Amino acid sequence: MRVRILRTLGYKVLSDINAVSVVMPTALIGTVILTLRGRGVGKSELVRRVDWLSDRIRAKGGRVAHFAGAPTSVVVERGIEVLGPDLVGVVEGLAEETFYAVDRFQLSFYRNMTIHLFISEALVSAGMYTRVKLGGGPDHQRVTYSWLLDHVSFLSQLFRGEFIFPTVGLSVNLENTLNGLERDDVIKIRRNGVGGIDTVELSDTERACGRENYDFYCFLIWPFVEAGWLGAISLLGLTPPPGQEADVWLEVNRAQDMAQLLGKTLYHQGDLSYFEAVNKETLKNAFQRFEEEGIIVIRKSKDSKHNPPTTKIADDWKPQRDPETGKIIPKGRLWDFIETIAQSRREG
Ligand SMILES: *[C@@H]1O[C@H](CO)[C@@H](O)[C@H](O)[C@H]1NC(C)=O
Repeated sequence: MRVRILRTLGYKVLSDINAVSVVMPTALIGTVILTLRGRGVGKSELVRRVDWLSDRIRAKGGRVAHFAGAPTSVVVERGIEVLGPDLVGVVEGLAEETFYAVDRFQLSFYRNMTIHLFISEALVSAGMYTRVKLGGGPDHQRVTYSWLLDHVSFLSQLFRGEFIFPTVGLSVNLENTLNGLERDDVIKIRRNGVGGIDTVELSDTERACGRENYDFYCFLIWPFVEAGWLGAISLLGLTPPPGQEADVWLEVNRAQDMAQLLGKTLYHQGDLSYFEAVNKETLKNAFQRFEEEGIIVIRKSKDSKHNPPTTKIADDWKPQRDPETGKIIPKGRLWDFIETIAQSRREG
């Protein structure tokens, strides 16, 4: 109850802050650069997306700094200067000035100034992505309302420590968000006889423009999906070794270090898309969520200086090993949890 009240208050305060705080060009540029599919972005495309994002922010009731009528291209140039070459690089000698992210982590700080405005759209998009990523025709990518509700509530739960969600409740917020995306012609909704939402799919316009708006929302949330997935697979490492019945208790700090090392390795081997996911803070949040979900147990002693907190995997989440090979069997609760997160991970 207390948590709920604090959260509601937090949301109220946050939306009050949003209403008065002005989104700066650096935040617009950071957000655009971190939500692009390609390696870099040409100047004209960057300007176009900054204009698009400014419109979206205004439509959400946010405010965007305007610079005495200077054209967006000038505002973008100045913003890039402010961010500096350590954050945004320029490739010289091309047909068009082309920018790229040098330090994605520092840029994420600027992206964070806009992400909360779009968190509902981002979760809906990640929920739809469970089908969209399978490809194929529109029929194949269509999701039912209940499927979407399941996935969006799963993701909201997973990220409830990271973001503050609208207080209207999950299903009302989902409907509002879907109606908004329909108005923006990003998705197409089929309704049943009494006006309830039956299915949702990408609109023809959105498909024709190469999903650029839909992808924007996905790119906002993908680093967080990646972090949740990384945290969850790192828990597999807490499975007792073959032949050992006793639980493995590991210092929480060490478990998080291991998750970070695993993340770095997967990133450099191409199995993890976002280095941002390897961030210790994000992993700490993930572990806290896992404890709240009862996936892991954390034991704290009074004297935490000499006896740092330790963790083990909860009994009913513990993966089984194949008695013959000693390998972890890809089945069970933890595995299903990992799979559900994985369904929203970025493909390729
Ligand atoms: C951005 O926001 C997320 C979600 O609230 C948070 O976990 C992350 O640490 C923030 N990143 C930076 C660089 O502040």
